[in-house]
Amino acid sequence: MPLRIVADASALADTAAHAVVEVGRAALAERGRFLIALSGGSTPRAMHARLAQPPLRDALNWTKVEFFWSDERSVPPESPDSNYGMALATLLIPLGIQPAQIHRLEGEASDLDAAAQSYERTLASVAGADPRGRPPVLDLVLLGMGSDGHTASLFPHTAALDVTGRWVVANDVPQLHTRRLTFTFELILRARDVRVLVAGADKAAALASVWSGPSAPHDFPSQRLTGHDPRIAWLVDRAAASALPASLATG
Ligand code: 6PG
Repeated sequence: MPLRIVADASALADTAAHAVVEVGRAALAERGRFLIALSGGSTPRAMHARLAQPPLRDALNWTKVEFFWSDERSVPPESPDSNYGMALATLLIPLGIQPAQIHRLEGEASDLDAAAQSYERTLASVAGADPRGRPPVLDLVLLGMGSDGHTASLFPHTAALDVTGRWVVANDVPQLHTRRLTFTFELILRARDVRVLVAGADKAAALASVWSGPSAPHDFPSQRLTGHDPRIAWLVDRAAASALPASLATG
């Protein structure tokens, strides 16, 4: 089911948290560890809270999980805008995750291009990939979608949308007057599983454009994650789905 509609943000958090545990348990059973890339933004907070408390905190061997991020803002870890900082407070500290399992993007770096290349080396090392080869295969990449149709920090009409041969880049985002570190689609689309979590009426117009508008991936980058790839699943709440055509709103 590429697009699943759930009642509200709370149901989205529950469904997403159970999906993380389900994918994680399969990864541990098959490969003995779970490589997950967390999403930024505010939507994941409620999902983190469910993962950090019983029963889900007891449903996965968290000591075998390697944590990455699909993007990071150009801020230090202590900033309220830090995706790492949000996950640290809402998930990693509550679960007692060890520093060696945590691989944060250094958004505060003065040289973001070097930070992106360093992260690619970290991904290659932890995931056991050839730095000069194909992107590593993460078990799960969690993503959100902005009200402009961006995902990760792959914003409309930005250079990172068309980058090839890279896994992580520093992307100029003129609409936000900033640069951000982000996974590329090349890396995202190698993952065994991708879950895109979208909640709220403010996302409804973009979600309709992404899922039922004309093909315009530079206008709506999240369109790169639609279609019938069974590895990619969208979890959206009714408010976000409110502008979808009936054919998609069966959820
Ligand atoms: C970020 C995210 C970004 C986010 C969407 C949705 O760094 O902001 O990676 O892609 O997922 O903007 O954000 P919300 O969950 O806050 O709506």
